[in-house]
Amino acid sequence: MDYTTLGRTGLRVSVAGLGCGGFSQLGLGTGGSEADAIAIIRGALDLGVNLFDTAASYGTEPVLGKALQGIRRDAVVICTKAPFGVSNPSAPPERAVESLERSLKELGTDYIDVYQLHGIGPTAYDHAREVIAPALLREKEKGKFRHLGITETAPGDPEHQMMQRAAPDPAWEVAMVAFHMLHQNARTAVFPLTRQYGVGTLLMFAVRNIFSQPGRLQATLRQLAADGLVPRSLADDPDPLGFLVHGDGGASGASSVIDAAYRFVRHEPGVDVVLFGTGNPAHLHSNIASLLKPPLPEADRRKLAELFGHLVGVGLDAPHLTPRRPRG
Ligand SMILES: NC(=O)c1ccc[n+]([C@@H]2O[C@H](COP(=O)([O-])OP(=O)(O)OC[C@H]3O[C@@H](n4cnc5c(N)ncnc54)[C@H](OP(=O)(O)O)[C@@H]3O)[C@@H](O)[C@H]2O)c1
Repeated sequence: MDYTTLGRTGLRVSVAGLGCGGFSQLGLGTGGSEADAIAIIRGALDLGVNLFDTAASYGTEPVLGKALQGIRRDAVVICTKAPFGVSNPSAPPERAVESLERSLKELGTDYIDVYQLHGIGPTAYDHAREVIAPALLREKEKGKFRHLGITETAPGDPEHQMMQRAAPDPAWEVAMVAFHMLHQNARTAVFPLTRQYGVGTLLMFAVRNIFSQPGRLQATLRQLAADGLVPRSLADDPDPLGFLVHGDGGASGASSVIDAAYRFVRHEPGVDVVLFGTGNPAHLHSNIASLLKPPLPEADRRKLAELFGHLVGVGLDAPHLTPRRPRG
């Protein structure tokens, strides 16, 4: 595993972080058992992952707490989130504090490393900053958590408006940002700011549905071509990102589109940790292997920027699956 420093938190974190939400929710969202989910978490630990991201709304805090029992507390970085609703303009700050207490119990720990406000859209930001954050920062003083973070709502804020306000604000030490091969605008809209202000970044949406569900990428490109946003040739190509797959899949080209997707985000300047979500042990291994490979070849990165660098908000859709619990 490779390790890096999570912005001005100073935390040493693995460059690969296990997302306990998303479509898979460690497999609990797609029919897996608690034992399977614990095996995924333990497998990630064995491969050197030390950062785990969950949320009150994922329903995976208890299983994460169980899987981490017996692990030295300072050997892992636990990130969790307040429920979506706490930052609605009418939400009282006590709700965030109550949820923090509940998360501590569910996780079986006496402190959280990074406590985040979840999916904050531009219109919720003022309340989040002026009402919710001060209440939480008082809990931080009591030692309930170490660093305050904020996550954006990718489908609701594809231009990253909220994050542009949050990044310079000293309250937030960690930011969770959406970025992938067909949604690259964080490169100019967010990362220069997070780098300037020393905000640690957790990357979400590297693969999501668009690269993991068969046919999704092709259908998306057909629509984009019909709208005149990408060349027609991509719409007619059954393997439109096949140009990324070449060589031996190691130092040169990618071994698959998903390998390319994780390597693409991993080496973007300004990205600290790439979160990936899975309930599949083989994906756990291959995703970490991808994240530890070198950057995609320069020519391929240039082509991705030329073809897709202007797109905004592509591939941020909700899953076709119906997981058992709310997700994010
Ligand atoms: N606003 C927010 O706060 C917010 C929003 C979204 C996500 N997040 C966080 O970010 C994390 C990462 O997001 P995500 O879970 O959507 O992760 P992701 O890595 O972008 O996508 C995961 C999806 O891709 C599939 N997948 C993963 N590896 C694969 C592989 N090698 N081959 C084929 N399919 C593969 C997974 O299914 P399998 O189970 O089959 O592998 C799952 O459906 C979440 O878990 C959550 O912690 C936060």
